[in-house]
Amino acid sequence: MCGIIGYCGHRPAVPVILEGLRRLEYRGYDSAGVAFLQHGELHVVRAQGKLANLEKRLEGQNVFQATSGIGHTRWATHGLPIEKNAHPHTDGAKRLAVIHNGIIENYQEIKNELMAEGCAFASDTDTEVLAHLLARAIDKGLPTDQAMSETLGRVEGAYALAVVSLDTPGVIHAARKSSPLVLGVGVGENFLASDIPAFLPYTRDVVFLEDGEMVRIDAASWRVMDVATLAPIEKEIKHITWDVSAAQKGGFKHFMLKEIFEQPKVIADCLAGRVDVAAGRAVLPELAGLPTPERLFIVACGTSFHAGLWGMYLLEQWAGVPTRVEVASEFRYREPVLQPGDVVLAISQSGETADTLAGMRLARQRGAKVIGLCNVVGSSVARESDVVISTQAGPEISVASTKAMCSQLTVLTLLALCLGEATGKISRQDRIDCLTSLEKLPSVLEAELPRMRERAMDLAKTYSEVSSFLYLGRGPYYPLALEGALKLKEISYIHAEGYAAGEMKHGPIALIDPRFPTFALAPMDELFPKVKSNLEEVQARGGKIIALTHPGADMRVDHIWETPKAWGPLSTFLMLPALQMFAYEMADYLGKDVDQPRNLAKSVTVE
Ligand code: F6R
Repeated sequence: MCGIIGYCGHRPAVPVILEGLRRLEYRGYDSAGVAFLQHGELHVVRAQGKLANLEKRLEGQNVFQATSGIGHTRWATHGLPIEKNAHPHTDGAKRLAVIHNGIIENYQEIKNELMAEGCAFASDTDTEVLAHLLARAIDKGLPTDQAMSETLGRVEGAYALAVVSLDTPGVIHAARKSSPLVLGVGVGENFLASDIPAFLPYTRDVVFLEDGEMVRIDAASWRVMDVATLAPIEKEIKHITWDVSAAQKGGFKHFMLKEIFEQPKVIADCLAGRVDVAAGRAVLPELAGLPTPERLFIVACGTSFHAGLWGMYLLEQWAGVPTRVEVASEFRYREPVLQPGDVVLAISQSGETADTLAGMRLARQRGAKVIGLCNVVGSSVARESDVVISTQAGPEISVASTKAMCSQLTVLTLLALCLGEATGKISRQDRIDCLTSLEKLPSVLEAELPRMRERAMDLAKTYSEVSSFLYLGRGPYYPLALEGALKLKEISYIHAEGYAAGEMKHGPIALIDPRFPTFALAPMDELFPKVKSNLEEVQARGGKIIALTHPGADMRVDHIWETPKAWGPLSTFLMLPALQMFAYEMADYLGKDVDQPRNLAKSVTVE
């Protein structure tokens, strides 16, 4: 949700900021803007739409003198995605400019008050109140850091914000509360950003800022303070080990395709050091000291929620741990009954999803232990969990999540095996068979992916004119049906519904006709005969069917799509990429913007 970047250093700032924004564009792409000080004046340049429009607007302008500045790429919350609402926002006198990610909840009250005092507003955003409040505090004679403190003391809500001001040339002030903000520490230059890839070409030394912290940077120094008291805070510099190539397309047309193809490596990386096949043991040292949960609540959103739902099947069957899976936006606002011995598992790729964070905070308040399963090192979920299990999928740039889910499923499999060994519910032989099959997955999938892509391309052409799809699955393949439908709708804008195959006759069957195809997950497991008879019901109503199944499956449907069979539910790892690839090829065939689908943002840091 919105990407912010700030730079103070020795290079021309605007190109550095634009490059950073390019790496942050996955966070929002309704509009973009930059602000910088040059020849003693504050310059603000903004453009509606993608970053390319801003770049066009800056073309030919002399912007190379400024060596500090801020930039923003927006995902609209308050106000239409039009130029006047693009960030940065300024005060009336244009002495300072603000960029902001988050929502100022009491902005209307503050705006009314400021307007009553004669303040004119140029936008419909919540952010603009910050610019006016700050300018007023500075006008009273407060230094910028105190003005920040006073302003942020007045606002409620979530923010990561950064400010440049004519009063403090060459300096950026920034602060965070419930929205991510990292500081990049370079040599003779310092950076601020919503996410590390923004400044990764320049430095891998980062400081993760916490809620309630404010930072002042210039080219030569940085200082973190408590936003309320301005007392200095000691921070540790962490060194990031992954490099910039992990955040580039590497010859693929889209990040999403690259990330689908990375899944064999993701599984291998996730298993590294966590598997002892001979002993039938999954090793998750992070869990040491944590008793087996009496009940497990999995809390997550979107694709991560689907991963959690899939995990439930394994956790209950292999470990016998009663497991409930809930979308975080529901969990956080009801009165979940939590008791000592309960554990909440928060799953999040970004580690910054507002609802998931709120859910885990609620759980901790009520005395439950929280395990965070997340991909982004140093994220809020990682920092606020009692126990963190890192999914190690590397940076996921495409808005539609693919490899992150694969990594979540891998860790959930290991978790179910670990707990299953502790409870004694799953036999040693099953654990050995499962781990043996898991270890083979990367090479099997690697060989299969090119074939899968060709099949997906063919099917995408065949079904490109369809306006609705039904996805069906049973058991652990039901969450996959939900995920297949989500992937299709979010990047191709084709309506799709995921359903438990057995539920179809309780409603959706009314929709079936020759123009409403079904994508079925039909692995050859104990539920295969049931899925098969559901599909016969679809056929009897003239519905077309694509069935993702295993070699040798006895079924007659319009399109059989065979993927290799793995042990037990592990066939999931060979079917999920087929679903992702189908959605990808469909969106690409239809000419959609695969990596940046409309209205979406990668990291949903607001409610
Ligand atoms: C779908 C997608 C979203 C996210 C959801 C949760 O492709 O990416 O549904 O899965 O916003 O995000 P995280 O996992 O970062 O909490």
